[in-house]
Amino acid sequence: MEIIILPTAEEASEVAARLVARQVREKPASVLGLATGSTPCKLYDLLARKHREQGLDFAQVTSFNLDEYVGLGPDHPASYHRFMEENLFSHVNIPRERIHIPDGLATDVPAHCAAYEKAIADAGGIDLQILGLGSDGHLGFNEPGSSLASRTRIKTLTERTRSDNARFFTAEEQVPHHVITMGLGTIMESRMCLLLAFGKAKAEAVAASIEGPVTANVPGSLLQFHPRTKVLLDAESASLLQRADYYQWVYKNKPSWQTDL
Ligand code: F6R
Repeated sequence: MEIIILPTAEEASEVAARLVARQVREKPASVLGLATGSTPCKLYDLLARKHREQGLDFAQVTSFNLDEYVGLGPDHPASYHRFMEENLFSHVNIPRERIHIPDGLATDVPAHCAAYEKAIADAGGIDLQILGLGSDGHLGFNEPGSSLASRTRIKTLTERTRSDNARFFTAEEQVPHHVITMGLGTIMESRMCLLLAFGKAKAEAVAASIEGPVTANVPGSLLQFHPRTKVLLDAESASLLQRADYYQWVYKNKPSWQTDL
């Protein structure tokens, strides 16, 4: 794990955008794993700007989103289909047929999840997976207690996550209880992970994920076993890390051949 702590979420998102842009420039036919929620909004904004102003070309990119609420169709204002459309897809040129998001209206959920896994495998696997972190440590919608080997499937949200996400709905009762999410095993097969976490509300989950024991109680901690994960934090989300000074020293003193951001 490489831990990169920057003063603000904006600065951390800029580094994330440079990393994603580099991935797409080096491998135009990259397979990107995408997250929703507040955390990646700035990153998507910066990618849209790079597309507009620098010609960053997504024409050969394939994307797979982590999750979707069960029961919400693509036009529901709180669906992740709608979120992705508004925050990224309508601003860049990923071909429609190569965009994948779990279908919240799937009638045969297990078959849909199996097909989603197959589509990821058929695309050659995910090159770069963007991740946010739940305040309870979830990755995707793999809530605490999720199998560390899990694949795309239906999950039940915790009350904490429903309450955290109520801001996207008109009332908390409207937050669905069920979601379809890539599994932890699916996420771990990505060739590179980019975990973003910002704000004081994430500080405990960040510390537990990076410096705590690897446990299903904190799904984010599984990334300690991932061979190529970068974690981008702001000062607030990093505030409970015991080795923050060390991570900052490492980042500032990288050998010149490593400073590619
Ligand atoms: C969303 C997702 C979730 C979020 C997490 C943090 O696709 O996978 O794990 O990343 O709930 O959400 P925000 O960014 O809204 O704090």
